[in-house]
Parts: sequence; structure tokens; C-alpha cells
Amino acid sequence: MAVTVSTFQEMKRAGERISMLTAYDYTTARLVDAAGVDSILVGDSLGNVMLGLGDTIPVTMDDMVRHTAAVCRGTTDALVIADMPFMSYQASVYDAVVNAGRLVKEGRANAVKLEGGVVMADRIAAITAAQIPVCAHIGLTPQGVNAFGGFKVQGKSLDTARGLLADAQAIQDAGAFAVVLEAVPADLAALVTERLDIPTIGIGAGAGCDGQVLVNQDMLGMFDGFVPKFVRRFAEAGALMREAYADFDRCVKDGTFPGPEHCYAMPEGVLEELRAQEEREGQA
Ligand code: KIV
Repeated sequence: MAVTVSTFQEMKRAGERISMLTAYDYTTARLVDAAGVDSILVGDSLGNVMLGLGDTIPVTMDDMVRHTAAVCRGTTDALVIADMPFMSYQASVYDAVVNAGRLVKEGRANAVKLEGGVVMADRIAAITAAQIPVCAHIGLTPQGVNAFGGFKVQGKSLDTARGLLADAQAIQDAGAFAVVLEAVPADLAALVTERLDIPTIGIGAGAGCDGQVLVNQDMLGMFDGFVPKFVRRFAEAGALMREAYADFDRCVKDGTFPGPEHCYAMPEGVLEELRAQEEREGQA
């Protein structure tokens, strides 16, 4: 059964937890969808994990449209949410609506996600009015890395906790159907979840959220470097892949790949005929 934004609301009301994973390509989307995960986020984290850009700032609308379209071609049931990249909605309400439209019209996303709370309420309202469901993202918002001065847990002081609650309320009032809470203390995320009618999806925000999202490459253990505290590695796919690549390299070099079972056979007699023909032509 296809998951829709209404399913998200029903799941919140029924106290059923929502699962969400990022994916950026057709093959991975097919696997995530077939596994029954409720939602796929085409995150602008593709700047980090697919394009090696170091952060999400340089990710473009064209990047997002292309990857969203690939994910949607591989998805049957999961709700696909596409991230709006940096500067595709910050400058004006007009930009926000036009670029959200591209992600739905060209990328075929079911919904879009943008970062920000109170200050983005007008964008959320305008995109929603254009019949495009919006998921907001507050707490640690990676597009604000330069303003934050790094990646830090958000909402730990009285003032910032009040700010987060105000952001969450403004997002809901503006018409968002869900909100991602990133790197927020678990008790504060639980309070936001209790106050809102729309579902909260946590990443580093504890078990009190209505759902959880992780970056695919992180949960599969595909990175050797820094892994945030909130990531659980559900597999060691990186180690498995390295092993397979090294095995391939070894087998090519020692001649054990390809074996006879990987080869196409020539019909009997054709090579002999070829040689005989060449010989005759050589004599002519
Ligand atoms: O871009 C992304 O992958 C995200 C998640 C971390 C929520 O925004």
C-alpha cells in the first residue's frame, strides 16, 4: 500500500512509529522500498555521501531533481520526500514555490523538505498552498553550518529550547505535514512531539519522536571516518564491499575470473571455418 502524507497523520494518531531512510539512486530506492520502510528522503546529504562535497551547501536544484527522479523510478510504496537545497528557497517565497514545483513535477517527489522554523513559515504556507506537502527540518540544520559555526546539539538552553518549541508550532500552523528534529536533546524532542499534531521524525533526537530517519550510508557502515553518536550501524556493508572489491582484484590478477561459466561459447565449427577462410584468402 502506498504511503501518503495522510498515512503519516494516521500513524501519529495510532501511535505507530514511522521509518524513514535516505536514498539517492534507483537501485537503493528499490531495496529500501521492498524492505517496507515507510518513507524515503532524497536528502541533500547527497552532497556529503554521494558527491563528496564535504557539506550540503554546494548541492544544486539540478542535483536534487536528477537524484529524486532516479529514486522515484525505483519506489512503489514509500513516500518520497525531496530536500530543497541551499538557496533554493531562502531568497524568496517565489523561489521556494517554483523550486518545490520542480522537485514534484520533474523529480516526481511526493513532498519536499526545507530547513527552518518561524522564519520559513511563509515559504511553508506558500508551498503547501500550491498543493505540495512540506516536511520541515529544525534543530541542527546542516545548511546553516556557517551560521552555527559547526555541527552542535541544539536547544540545550532555556532560550534555545523555547525557540525550538516556537519553531515547531509555527511549522505546524503554516501547514507542514511533518517535521524532522535533528540533534536535539531527547526530552525536548519528546516535548515537541507531545505538543504537535503532526509527526516528528528524529535523527539524534531520541526515542520519543514519532519516527526515525538515518542516512543510508551511515546505517550501513559504509564510512570509516567520523560517525555521529546517534548513528546505529545496522550492517557492516562497507567492510563487505571492500572485501568483495579486493576479491575481484585478486581473481582478475590470478586468472580465476572469469571462469568457463561466465563465458559465451562459439558455435561448433565456426572458428575452424574462420581459420580455413583466412588461410585461403592468404593464398590468393
Ligand atoms: O539531508 C539529509 O539526509 C537530511 C537528514 C539528515 C534528515 O536532512
